[in-house]
Amino acid sequence: MLKKIIDGKKISKKLQEKICLEVKKKIKFGNRPPGIAVILVGNDSSSKIYIREKQIACKKVGFVLKCWKLQENTKEEKILNLINKLNKDLEIDGILVQLPLPKHINTNNILCAISYKKDIDGFHPYNIGKLCQKNPNIRACTPKGIITLLKKYKINTCGLNAVIIGDSNIVGKPMSMELLMYGCTTTITHKFTKNLKKHTKNADLLIVAIGKPNFIKKSWVKKKSIIFDVGINRMKNGKIIGDVNFKSVYKKISYITPVPGGVGPMTVTSLLENTMLIYNKNYKI
Ligand code: GUN
Repeated sequence: MLKKIIDGKKISKKLQEKICLEVKKKIKFGNRPPGIAVILVGNDSSSKIYIREKQIACKKVGFVLKCWKLQENTKEEKILNLINKLNKDLEIDGILVQLPLPKHINTNNILCAISYKKDIDGFHPYNIGKLCQKNPNIRACTPKGIITLLKKYKINTCGLNAVIIGDSNIVGKPMSMELLMYGCTTTITHKFTKNLKKHTKNADLLIVAIGKPNFIKKSWVKKKSIIFDVGINRMKNGKIIGDVNFKSVYKKISYITPVPGGVGPMTVTSLLENTMLIYNKNYKI
């Protein structure tokens, strides 16, 4: 049974151990540890949990993480000033502004203000543009994590019909560019898509990122398909479940990521990898 499960937790642990060794080596040679600056604006409860996970991972691998927790009503200018300061800070390799931001803040202004050289999220137009050109620089973390898993499980994506549910800037759009780069025929579906089921039933590779618990069931998926469940839905009883009804689809498909323990840990690991890449550009030993 386990052969079908793509174990993001296990792969993530191995990759983080590798990063940890690399950091130890850097420090042994007299370099500072890699540094991340995180900015959280407001009180979004999911954002707080995601930042906590990033803090734990950074501690594990020996990165320094500095966190700025700003009030919900913080002015955009104040955030821009902080980003400008962090862009120049020689001990900070990567800057991350946790999304979503409060409504009065223009997210695009904020993402553009982060130096593309410190953009560990891969959301800056420069980095998104590079990915569109199939010449990636820093890559968005969740899509990058999914590609890492596909490679680790030796799944050949060339020529597959890939369908992505959800057209967000964080997952859907960069995911489509990644899959295009890896030879898929890629479709992004969204809230205005007509007859969604027609698309999902034709998907050899299905990426679901909509935040609707158990949305995808057996009759919606293609036989022997590969499914990546990006959903992290917290239920009233505290349980976390995905966008895909795991039990319902399991017998029909060939691979699936569980929730939790699938895509989620890989997003955090990709963030560490992105930071390490930038750090290595700054420090050569
Ligand atoms: N909110 C949800 N996912 C992410 C992410 O990967 N990066 C940032 N900055 N915010 C998020």
